[in-house]
Amino acid sequence: MSFDLVFFGGTGDLTWRKLIPALFQAARHGKLPPGGRLLAVARDERGDDAYRQFIRERLGEVDRAKRPSDDEFARFAAQMQYRRMDLARPDDYAGLKQWVDERGADTVVLYLATSPHLFPLICEHLGRVGLNGPNVRVVLEKPLGHDLASAQEINRVVRASFSERQALRIDHYLGKPAVQNLTALRFGNALFEPLWRRECIAHIQITIAESIGVGTRGDFYDATGALRDMIQNHALQLLTMIAMEPPASADADAIRDEKLKVLRSLKPFTEDSVARDVVRGQYKAGTVDGQAVPGYLDEVRVPAGSRCETFVALRTEVQNWRWAGVPFYLRTGKRLAARDAHIVVRFRPVPHPIFPGTTRANKLVIKLQPEDGLELHLLAAKCSSSTETLSPVSLDLDFDKAFPSDRVGAYERLLLDAIAGRLNLFVRSDEQEQAWRWVEPILDAWARDATGPRPYASGTWGPPASSALVARDGFTWDEEE
Ligand code: BG6
Repeated sequence: MSFDLVFFGGTGDLTWRKLIPALFQAARHGKLPPGGRLLAVARDERGDDAYRQFIRERLGEVDRAKRPSDDEFARFAAQMQYRRMDLARPDDYAGLKQWVDERGADTVVLYLATSPHLFPLICEHLGRVGLNGPNVRVVLEKPLGHDLASAQEINRVVRASFSERQALRIDHYLGKPAVQNLTALRFGNALFEPLWRRECIAHIQITIAESIGVGTRGDFYDATGALRDMIQNHALQLLTMIAMEPPASADADAIRDEKLKVLRSLKPFTEDSVARDVVRGQYKAGTVDGQAVPGYLDEVRVPAGSRCETFVALRTEVQNWRWAGVPFYLRTGKRLAARDAHIVVRFRPVPHPIFPGTTRANKLVIKLQPEDGLELHLLAAKCSSSTETLSPVSLDLDFDKAFPSDRVGAYERLLLDAIAGRLNLFVRSDEQEQAWRWVEPILDAWARDATGPRPYASGTWGPPASSALVARDGFTWDEEE
């Protein structure tokens, strides 16, 4: 199968930090189909060789351990070209169309790794020059809009040029191996399904903690905030994978229909419930990994006095027969104590304990990062004394050990899927809009609330109100146990 993969925003961070390294790994592992051309498109004038050199230098920077040898890079770079384009000039799109048509590849993937405000412009031009035939797919990076109306507007313009099956909305969390294993765990095994319901599960926690701050992205981040940056997409997508009903098949729409139903079942927020069930925070100076770090307001390009949230913890419920009354806690933040993303499924305690001592309820932990694995926490008899007291033990599954080779990273997986036209791990427009619909009352309530985010010291797990949110229901966050 021949393909052309075009990166708009070809010199931008996303392209050289994530996309090209992912493609390089795919090529190195022999997973990139042969017969591909990679074209980077950007505003400045430079030749193919200068672009290849630019990438070469950066590939070493991104991951020294994976630095390519001369031969490896030469083979990879031979497929790579560069093209100058002014995204506002119709002629430049006509030139691109000609470049594509001259070869007539089976598949053309146009990856918009640009600022999202350019998506409508680019899609309109692509449609106008006819670079939207049935063999063309367009990949859209988040953030897609900053609220429901702007997301709908982007989708409207994209839809005018591309069908739903041609528009691939990326949420890179869906490409993470642990997320795919979550589907495998739930729908490839019979073991958990009978337990996966309100009668057996006490609550669910989804944590995406980062130890990094906003770095040099202060201006972007300040206009976004943790709710839009992480909850509206990554955390909600994880929630849908946990809560969805078994789909009728592994077909993309069968899965996305079920995910959409979950999003539609989320308990809507009101002004009162935002005040009660949502905690927003902003990091102050502190210590992370033994290093003193500045507070959010002292980061570069952050406006003075900003009220932007760098932390969110919230409680919600999925209002359907399976989950009624089960709290789902979502939490994300920058400059937290560790880089740690995981999901905890806490089962109910035994109804009638007969053993003395520990009565801790079982839990299943799905670990996304830094490691990727599963832990099932049980109680077992230690048999070290004559009385039978139980001790906590866990069954640990480390996917890197279980499958030592052949594992692909999130962007590698999603790029390969985009080329192959596998849509399961891309977000459909109705899912994305429904997620906006659900977060919008939170944004509105915050805009009206004069209190602003609660401070937390860098290197902690967020404001104390986050622990209180969970404690109110008699629970604790996983790391507080
Ligand atoms: C991105 C956010 O979508 O995800 C960033 O915009 C965040 O702010 C990043 O740092 C986290 O991704 P990962 O894969 O490193 O957990």
